[in-house]
Amino acid sequence: MSVSPQTVAVFGAGYVGLVTGACFADLGHRVVVRDVLADRVEVLRRGEVPIFEPGLDSLIARNTDRLSFTTDVGEAIEGADFVYIAVGTPPTYSGDADLSAVWTVIDELPQIERSTVVVMKSTVPVGTGSRVRHRLDERGLQHVGYVSNPEFTAEGTALRDFMHPDRIVIGSFRDEDGDAVEALHAGIEAPVVRCDVASGEMIKLAANAALMTRISFINEIANVCEATGADVVRVAEGIGLDRRIGPAFLRAGIGFGGSCFPKDSLALKQLAANSGYHFQLLNAVIEVNELQKRRVIGKLHSHLGSLRGATVALLGLAFKPNTDDMREAPSLVLAGRLVAEGADVRAWDPVVEGADLFGVEIASSPEAAAAGADAVVLVTEWPELADVDWKAVAATMRNALLIDGRNMLDPAALRAAGFTVEGIGRAASVSEG
Ligand code: UDX
Ligand code: UDX
Repeated sequence: MSVSPQTVAVFGAGYVGLVTGACFADLGHRVVVRDVLADRVEVLRRGEVPIFEPGLDSLIARNTDRLSFTTDVGEAIEGADFVYIAVGTPPTYSGDADLSAVWTVIDELPQIERSTVVVMKSTVPVGTGSRVRHRLDERGLQHVGYVSNPEFTAEGTALRDFMHPDRIVIGSFRDEDGDAVEALHAGIEAPVVRCDVASGEMIKLAANAALMTRISFINEIANVCEATGADVVRVAEGIGLDRRIGPAFLRAGIGFGGSCFPKDSLALKQLAANSGYHFQLLNAVIEVNELQKRRVIGKLHSHLGSLRGATVALLGLAFKPNTDDMREAPSLVLAGRLVAEGADVRAWDPVVEGADLFGVEIASSPEAAAAGADAVVLVTEWPELADVDWKAVAATMRNALLIDGRNMLDPAALRAAGFTVEGIGRAASVSEG
């Protein structure tokens, strides 16, 4: 591996910016990560990591020689060969992506003399690159390159996804800028897709939309399984073995959440609508997901009747395991609905702390959350939940009902432990009980 060390400025020390910065440092480059939040930069300078991402703390620790943090734009840009933009692009009220942080970065760039390449890592609507190009040109920065290099890292496995990606996408206006970004990734073995900037931007949005479509598809199949007596876990296995379909992203559950899917689906929907196209399929994917999050409430009603005064334990709060990220987590919708229906809600999560969940009581363990409760809902498939002594838990509950929102646990074993069990799309196993 022959890496020619480059200097990389990364704007934004969130999940994406920190992972990008730490991985480039690990590849041998000199990296300065810049964030507007002075507290966040202070924490990072002390050697602490403000987010939970497995392996990120040790990766940062072993690259301190090449990795630094600052709030100062000038310090970040000094000698930079690349300026990576990894600031947030949250949805606005209209559902469009809010690009104000991206524009702030572009406008804050000083009159760079060298042939730096600005690289967009944040997820942005198609057409953003052209607008940025125009803005750079207006400022006399024609010599500064622009490249779209979207991220496909999933939280919890972000380092592996960055270092061993399925592909690297590089969309550029000029070949030499794309070549430079490709060379920056030397040391990573992966197919490289070279394309124009607009296609690079669309690849990111379309990849997310394809994954979300699969999830809403299997969730609808699950709902039909419940009505017809089939088991979606077996169905997913049976269709996933078809090479044309494949097994990934066919886990039925309580809907997708997180920092990307919900906002990026809205952004793509709006992008299409703003161009005069009604993206019917994507609208359905979003609506199915909203309804899916609420189906657990219906299941609780069917077993408990009114939820007023019932105690419900939510196990897992993060939108998926191995992250502390609560953005658009289904647990927020569940907790909100349960509280609105007058239930007493207790919650447990091994990582999320002090979440402001409508006054929900946070328990120190799954057992403590479930004690005396009328129902347990498995919301996030944390591995810890596989090791719980469910028989002991059932014995402490007022009513031993377990809704497995992720089809994580073995329903037969739970039933033997004394539970009434419901999964998602598992009508066959429910009727056995
Ligand atoms: C972000 C985007 O939301 C996503 O669309 C994209 O794919 C990658 O970047 P994430 O890293 O998860 O994802 O965002 P977040 O954790 O919110 O971090 C953004 C960081 O940028 C924050 O630390 C914030 O303080 C910082 N920021 C924001 C700036 O440094 N400058 C700004 O002007 C605004
Ligand atoms: C996602 C994309 O995978 C990643 O490529 C992109 O860069 C950012 O968005 P992330 O949101 O971190 O990553 O997590 P992911 O593992 O994709 O899960 C997203 C949501 O879908 C979670 O709520 C998860 O529980 C749900 N999911 C996933 C399912 O419900 N069923 C599945 O089969 C897979």
